[in-house]
Amino acid sequence: MRAASGSGPFDSPGTATYQHIMRGTFITFEGGEGSGKSTQARLLADYLRASGRTVIETREPGGSPFAERLRGFILDPDLPPHEPISEALLFYAARADHIASVIRPALERGSCVICDRFSDSTRVYQGAAGHLEQTVIDQLETLVVGMMQPDLTFLLDIAPELGLARAKARGAGTDGYEARGVAYHERLRAGFLDLAARHSERFHVLDGGDPKDAIAARVRETVARRLGAA
Ligand SMILES: Nc1ncnc2c1ncn2[C@@H]1O[C@H](COP(=O)(O)OP(=O)(O)O)[C@@H](O)[C@H]1O
Ligand SMILES: [Mg+2]
Repeated sequence: MRAASGSGPFDSPGTATYQHIMRGTFITFEGGEGSGKSTQARLLADYLRASGRTVIETREPGGSPFAERLRGFILDPDLPPHEPISEALLFYAARADHIASVIRPALERGSCVICDRFSDSTRVYQGAAGHLEQTVIDQLETLVVGMMQPDLTFLLDIAPELGLARAKARGAGTDGYEARGVAYHERLRAGFLDLAARHSERFHVLDGGDPKDAIAARVRETVARRLGAA
């Protein structure tokens, strides 16, 4: 866990209790559709388990029974038009439960938590490429996430055409976000890169167009370094 940022309900930055409780490592994968997040999350989980670590693999939106129910609702392409703030509140409603019932307990037990998308996706989809002001997201982030920020975030950067073609070939159906045009996905890409530049202490940007194994090796190297230093 990353120390001392924000002042959420779980926050007690800098205290002995905080340092003592949060022994696990929180790793997130971010990027556009088809960039390889789920693939790399699984490969990293396999690697860490093989090296004897306890790993929780999870995803957003979703990750807990309650949040998974909200996921189905949020990603429904037939959802009637609604306010951007309403959409953001749904994501944070799901996230609050996911943190309280899955992420926080796992980190307290000292596990590695690997999450396929997290708050950075909200910042980019609802913020940079959406219609919500950054300050609104910042407030929700403080309220719901507080100090539960990732220790490491891998951004898989990829040309939207390639990512969308991969997602299509994967054939899992199209959600409301995948259905939007390439220009929208270009804004997402730029939003993620901007976020990574502003939070370079936790972000690692990787070329999602590289072969899977080459990306996985770089992810392993970075994580091993971080765990070694922990
Ligand atoms: N580096 C890669 N090179 C080529 N294909 C890839 C690579 N990474 C993932 N894929 C394939 O692309 C598709 C999308 O990958 P996935 O991990 O599901 O992406 P995401 O979770 O980011 O949407 C899958 O069929 C996967 O096997
Ligand atoms: Mg995926």
